[in-house]
Amino acid sequence: MALYAIGDLHLHFASDLRAPGQLNSKLWQNHEQRFADICEALIKPDDTLLLLGDHSWGKNLDQAAPDLDYICRLPGKKILLRGNHDMFWDAKKTAQLNSMYEGRLRFLQNNFYPYRDFALVGTKGYTFEGPFRVNARGQVIGWDENAKKHADALVEREMERLEASFQDACSQGYSRFIMLLHYPPTSVLERESDFTRIAEKYRVQQVVYAHCHGQARFHDSVIGMMHGIRYDLASGDYLKWQPLKILP
Ligand SMILES: [Fe+2]
Ligand SMILES: [Fe+2]
Repeated sequence: MALYAIGDLHLHFASDLRAPGQLNSKLWQNHEQRFADICEALIKPDDTLLLLGDHSWGKNLDQAAPDLDYICRLPGKKILLRGNHDMFWDAKKTAQLNSMYEGRLRFLQNNFYPYRDFALVGTKGYTFEGPFRVNARGQVIGWDENAKKHADALVEREMERLEASFQDACSQGYSRFIMLLHYPPTSVLERESDFTRIAEKYRVQQVVYAHCHGQARFHDSVIGMMHGIRYDLASGDYLKWQPLKILP
């Protein structure tokens, strides 16, 4: 029994949407088959695979269905987190998705899933990605205030969801946590955030996140130990499609 994580499969079996520029490298060619092959060799039926969002380019559930079917066929138990591109997943309809895919997929949002004596707690999260004003030396000297206000509101909503999930897990007796985010825990210019603070408040063992694509973005946020918590990036291209082992 083992717990693995990876994010950003960006599947598009039913939609003709092309991956954006940063997803056009060799690493993404036929990545669906390579990832499935890696999972078949690695993941046993009683293992759990956490998929950290950006599952599908589908704009609705019909377009995403073949992508979700592909995920259903991967070995092990699958738990899905919502990513910014997952248009098929209305946050308010998570319970509907859970009943539709009961016994095949589990959707993590405003709830938690147990793994051994850990509670797996997670939400999409949010980070401020600009637009920034940059000087001639490439240093950030300001940003769009309206965009920042919008980002702050989204962070607040995500924090409410996360806090509710932690509280739910605590009320059911859990005191050990793995925290999952789609977005990195900190924005490009930060070393701490509401997300790192809540991880410290609940003394989570590990924070795993995705969303960062391409060499230039892999180090946008924290990787490694910080204040006693391990932070890991698990976007598919960062991991070269090899799921990251989180727990035995
Ligand atoms: Fe992504
Ligand atoms: Fe993303």
